[in-house]
Amino acid sequence: GLPVFDPEELKAFTGIASSTQDTITLPPGYAHAVINRWGDKLHTHSPAFKGDASDGGDAQAQQIGYNHDGMHFFPIDATDSQNGSSREGLLATNHEYITPHFFFPKGVEPGKQGWSLDWVRKSQHAQGASVQHMRLNADGRWERVLDSRYNRSINATTRMELVGPAAGNRLARTKADPEGRHVYGTYGNCGNGFTYWNTYLTCEENFTDYFGIGEKNEADADYADAEQKAHLQRYKGSEKTASDDYRWDTHDTRFDWTQEPNESNRFGWIVEIDPFDPQSTPRKLTALGRFKHENAAITLADDKRIVVYMGDDQVSEYLYKFVSDGKYDPARPEQNRKLLETGTLHVAIFSDAQGSDDFAGTGRWVPLTLDTIALDGRRLGDHFNNDLGELLIKTRQAADAVGATPMDRPEWVAVHPATREAYVTLTNNKSRGSDKARFPGGPAHPGTDGANPRESNLYGQIVRWREAGGNPSAMEFEWDIFVLAGNPNKHSDLRAGSSNITPDNTFNSPDGLAIDPRGLIWIQTDGNYSNKGEYEGQGNNQMLVADPVSKEIRRFMVGPKGCEVTGITWTPDMRYLFINIQHPGEGASVRDSQESPVAISTWPDGPAATRPRPATVVIWREDEGVVGTFPEARS
Ligand code: FEO
Ligand code: CA
Ligand code: CA
Ligand code: CA
Repeated sequence: GLPVFDPEELKAFTGIASSTQDTITLPPGYAHAVINRWGDKLHTHSPAFKGDASDGGDAQAQQIGYNHDGMHFFPIDATDSQNGSSREGLLATNHEYITPHFFFPKGVEPGKQGWSLDWVRKSQHAQGASVQHMRLNADGRWERVLDSRYNRSINATTRMELVGPAAGNRLARTKADPEGRHVYGTYGNCGNGFTYWNTYLTCEENFTDYFGIGEKNEADADYADAEQKAHLQRYKGSEKTASDDYRWDTHDTRFDWTQEPNESNRFGWIVEIDPFDPQSTPRKLTALGRFKHENAAITLADDKRIVVYMGDDQVSEYLYKFVSDGKYDPARPEQNRKLLETGTLHVAIFSDAQGSDDFAGTGRWVPLTLDTIALDGRRLGDHFNNDLGELLIKTRQAADAVGATPMDRPEWVAVHPATREAYVTLTNNKSRGSDKARFPGGPAHPGTDGANPRESNLYGQIVRWREAGGNPSAMEFEWDIFVLAGNPNKHSDLRAGSSNITPDNTFNSPDGLAIDPRGLIWIQTDGNYSNKGEYEGQGNNQMLVADPVSKEIRRFMVGPKGCEVTGITWTPDMRYLFINIQHPGEGASVRDSQESPVAISTWPDGPAATRPRPATVVIWREDEGVVGTFPEARS
């Protein structure tokens, strides 16, 4: 078994210093290796990566994708996804978006210079998720099994199926798919989840950015009718029609709003993938709602119904919870695979009324069903044509109608394996308390409340909640703030953060989040890495560890320049931790095509690099101990 989590040991561990170095920094006793870089071969026969990024669409379909995000290790012999081999498994990895300046050869700009259908395909093939068979070799290194039948690129052109209440909905039908049941592709794949029945969940986040109006004038007022426009803008968050970094609409007309206004309703879902069946058709789970999904944190209610917690990552959006109709039964694997097709989606309302013990507030979950009474006294069914599929396609509008609490950008949720308390990273919200509209035609960003206590929130916070009776399917909860991130180097008011933030562990913009089987919390950041001004002393993006009881936080790892640190999974024996380095080298200057791609970072290829490359990093203890233990701290 794993060593019991020792709070005294964590307390004795001082944590590592912040850093602005272009490298991976870890505590003494820890080592790392880089695997699965963008462009690395997926199969034996895949073409080798060309350093000048001239690899075309066909090559990219056979190589590891770009901008790795959520990820899960599935032990090769597993019957569930948390037990089994720690030496061989399938690594499923999200590939979220592309950074054109690094991703295309010099002189190619989306929608402009040198732009062609093949570059659109390359961009589409680099996003989605990959499945890579991995094995620990005799030298203690993780190597890719290139001739494995499991290796697969699931990308923006892969055929998928819509399942659940919105499958076949009139708003999901297109010219190419008049039945509204089959969609090509997934992209914008941010956080992830995994199920008790050994499948991977990949979450579609910024899907609206991929739609444009083809070659037409950007100011074209007639790209959709008024109702469609209001719906698109509620999701896009702005009136902008361009698809800046993608411009798929210029060569693939389904991404042109004016041609196919319903195509975007087929994205913004959570997609379930069976990594052990390379022929399987991925399924878009419409019962879990349509929004800018971050991750999917799964747990079991007392009666064995499945509960999935989910954040909608945009400024002043909401926190959601799905509860399945059916119950999980390990003896009935085929039935389990239907559990995420039917159930009830809920949205959170946070109240400042005092909670019990030291919890700061209370809250409740509002079911988004046709019979729920909205703030205006009408049934939600009356708002959405008595059509649950339509309600789910318009999840944000349904949550607006019941008065859900706007949060400071909900990113990842994690559930403690023993207490079942849940934690959400609220990454930041510079608009909190401003008089700007939340979305076109919408209300202004709200002022502060207990769970979102700062105007112009630069640093973010982690909120945790405890369901009534400790049962994840409960309708009421109590919440508190686990940490208010801040910068005590700059501030002494609320912007300094809560008392568990010190000059030694200061960070901004918590994003990735996990709690390991021992109960140690892992916090990853995706924020400002200038190390200047409001962010002085915080350095590059990083990963920290925390004790859920004492709330002590220690910096564990710092990433290279310009990256975010995201995605987290481990082998069942906790000897190897896998994380992702997304968008290394990205900064204000990357949009200037005159700037060298390595102006900010050469990670991970070093001085010979032609461009930085997103990649996975595997971390271990040199003494073969458990990752997240610190025996050195005791001596
Ligand atoms: Fe893709 Fe919310 O981060
Ligand atoms: Ca994220
Ligand atoms: Ca983020
Ligand atoms: Ca990101």
